[in-house]
Amino acid sequence: MQEGMMETAASLAGNREYVVCAFDDLKSGEMKIAPVGKFGVGVYNIEGALYALTNYCPHEGAPLCLGRVQGTNEAGSSAVERVRQVRAGEVLRCPWHGWEFDLKTGKSLADAKRGIRTYAAFLKEGNVVISR
Ligand code: FES
Repeated sequence: MQEGMMETAASLAGNREYVVCAFDDLKSGEMKIAPVGKFGVGVYNIEGALYALTNYCPHEGAPLCLGRVQGTNEAGSSAVERVRQVRAGEVLRCPWHGWEFDLKTGKSLADAKRGIRTYAAFLKEGNVVISR
C-alpha cells in the first residue's frame, strides 16, 4: 500500500475535499495516488501547479497515472524538421499502449471526445487538497 493510502477509498461526492499530503511532501515533478474513487486519483505537482486525474485509462483500463509526464510529437514545418517535440510537461502518456492525455483537462490528444475525469487540486493550509 502506498504512503497515505487508506483501507477504503474516499468519495468526493457532494464536493467534499480530500487532503492528499503536505505540500512539502509533493515536490515538483512528483505524483501521489490519492485513494479516492474506484481507481484512485493521481495528483501532480508540475513546477508548482497542481493537477489531479483519475488513475484509469479509458482504452483498456491501465493505471494511467503510472505513465510518464512528457511532451508530445507534432509534424514539423519542413522536410528537415519532420517531427518536433512540443508541450513538454503537459502530457500524460499511458504506460500500456501510449495514449496521451492533456494533464490539465484530461482530454485525449488523439480524440477530444474521449478523456478522463479531472479534479480541482489546490493548496489549503499547507496541504495539497483535491475536490470535484
Ligand atoms: S490502456 Fe491506456 S492506452 Fe491502452
